[in-house]
Amino acid sequence: MGHKGFSDKVLVCSVALFLLPLHSAYGDVSYYFPEEMKRGSVIGNIAKDLGLEASRLSARKARIDTEGNRKRYCDINLTSGDLIVTERIDREELCGEKVSCLLSFELVLENPLELHRISLQIQDINDNSPIFPKDTIKLEIRESADKGARYRVNAAHDADIGQNAVQSYVLQRNNHFVLSVQTTSAGSKYGELVLDKELDREKQQELQLLITAVDGGTPQRSGTVVIHVTVLDANDNAPVFSQAVYKASLPENSPLGTLVVTVSSTDADEGVNGEVMYEFSRMSDKARKMFTLDQKTGDITVIGELDYEEESKYEMFVEGKDGYGLSSDTKVIIDITDINDNAPVIYLKSLSNPIPENASPGTEVGIINVQDRDSENNRQVHCSIQQHVPFNLVPSIKNYYSLVTSGELDRELVSDYNITITATDEGSPPLSSSKTVQLSVADVNDNPPVFEEQSYSAHVTENNKPGSSVCSVTARDPDWGQNGAVIYSLLPGEMNGVPVSSLLSVNGDTGVIHAVRSFDYEQFRSFKVQVMARDNGSPPLSSNVTVSVASSNPRADMVQICRSAPEQAVNPLFPGRH
Ligand SMILES: *[C@@H]1O[C@H](CO)[C@@H](O)[C@H](O)[C@H]1NC(C)=O
Ligand SMILES: *[C@@H]1O[C@H](CO)[C@@H](O)[C@H](O)[C@H]1NC(C)=O
Ligand SMILES: *[C@@H]1O[C@H](CO)[C@@H](O)[C@H](O)[C@H]1NC(C)=O
Repeated sequence: MGHKGFSDKVLVCSVALFLLPLHSAYGDVSYYFPEEMKRGSVIGNIAKDLGLEASRLSARKARIDTEGNRKRYCDINLTSGDLIVTERIDREELCGEKVSCLLSFELVLENPLELHRISLQIQDINDNSPIFPKDTIKLEIRESADKGARYRVNAAHDADIGQNAVQSYVLQRNNHFVLSVQTTSAGSKYGELVLDKELDREKQQELQLLITAVDGGTPQRSGTVVIHVTVLDANDNAPVFSQAVYKASLPENSPLGTLVVTVSSTDADEGVNGEVMYEFSRMSDKARKMFTLDQKTGDITVIGELDYEEESKYEMFVEGKDGYGLSSDTKVIIDITDINDNAPVIYLKSLSNPIPENASPGTEVGIINVQDRDSENNRQVHCSIQQHVPFNLVPSIKNYYSLVTSGELDRELVSDYNITITATDEGSPPLSSSKTVQLSVADVNDNPPVFEEQSYSAHVTENNKPGSSVCSVTARDPDWGQNGAVIYSLLPGEMNGVPVSSLLSVNGDTGVIHAVRSFDYEQFRSFKVQVMARDNGSPPLSSNVTVSVASSNPRADMVQICRSAPEQAVNPLFPGRH
């Protein structure tokens, strides 16, 4: 990946492990690495840094999570445990002028649920040059101006920060001016032209000066501005803003047209030379869509939909310029405050569906994550599920919850649940949302087939025809599929030394009992056989029932339909059943 250079900067720390409810661990790891790395670049080996087994990452469904739908920028290689770059990371776009640029993610693992915070400290690289607000500046200077007179030149700006921002200015050698570099109270640097040798309009009516702004990066970058000086009798005072920095704060979703702040400056000159016009000199594209500036009054008003979750702070520069082009600038910082305008969002992170009906109470069925894009109290969320279902929501790490069973499940009673999870934040007024999780209960072979009767009896006429049906038994099994499929069979037994299977047979599918041969009334006046009903579960369950067969003399009617035998109060095979 060709970036050995940062491997030494990578791992900063792996902080203490906290033990939290539900056998979960929470550890932090943070990486320091440069912006603009190629996709696929390895940031570090997160498995190693957190002491996780790389071989189990896949089984534990390791993944990188972000708050809400924010971009992820990185991902984890489940084979190696490497954290790799997946999106362009542009520090300037992400963090603007912030000194520290931090991206936070969570590494989530399951079985057991485990959460680790990952911070990426994005290091600035010198990928932006200093830029002056304008390529050329027009100055008009009185020929009688004294040596030492100062003329401010608007600052150049560099989107990079720290050493990579503007460090100094250089004025190309010329006969009249030297440059003095000044620092504003906000910390930015600008240049002042200082008249070193008086001007003489008769000798030279126009001058061109070249100023170069340089940053402190390696390699160094620079930007230039050309200053056209016209020598005449005119204006010599630049406007002066009443404050070096204007600060304002307003709630997000403020209506269009809301006045944010008014900048004002005074100019010691008279007439056109003292009339100040305001304009934004430098601001982000985002800020340009949100605010407008009245060039006469200096009023800054809202023209866009301010969303705290998108941007909580805007910084911009306003230039005040008098009639002859002398100008100065001031910084405006606008803080956006949060209001509770985002309902919590419920994410179902994993779900075991279906869940076997014999799951013991307390079995984890799913993992739920709740997020709220607001901040502070507006993002504190409580979660609950509806009453009267055998499930509970157990708070786990941070904004994670485990959905666990809280009682016995029985598919034969309830086979499907719609579990409604409700999340409510602590804003005022609070916002809430809900999500329904459909959960099926999977069958377990927990019911044996049960005969409809406790016992059966049948009458057969002597010399009946072989193959004629004698009786039929029925057993029912409420389980599902093969667990509920019933197969009948005759249990082995003997009658006067003759196996019962040579007298009767039972149809395995229907439970109809047939005579195998004709009975001899004298030999088989009455006898009993046992029929077993067995299901196809694994392991199978069965029940047995007694069928009493009586044969009568040939003139009696043949009875084909089994009758229950109510005189037999207790089924010997099921002593509990009456
Ligand atoms: C993940 O790591 C393995 C082992 O180092 C490597 O072979 C594989 O190409 C990597 N996968 C991706 C998507 O980078
Ligand atoms: C659950 O919700 C689905 C979809 O609304 C519905 O079809 C189903 O009948 C519900 N099931 C139960 C057990 O309420
Ligand atoms: C039914 O009888 C068979 C054979 O004697 C036996 O193996 C089985 O366990 C019995 N089933 C029940 C439910 O008693």
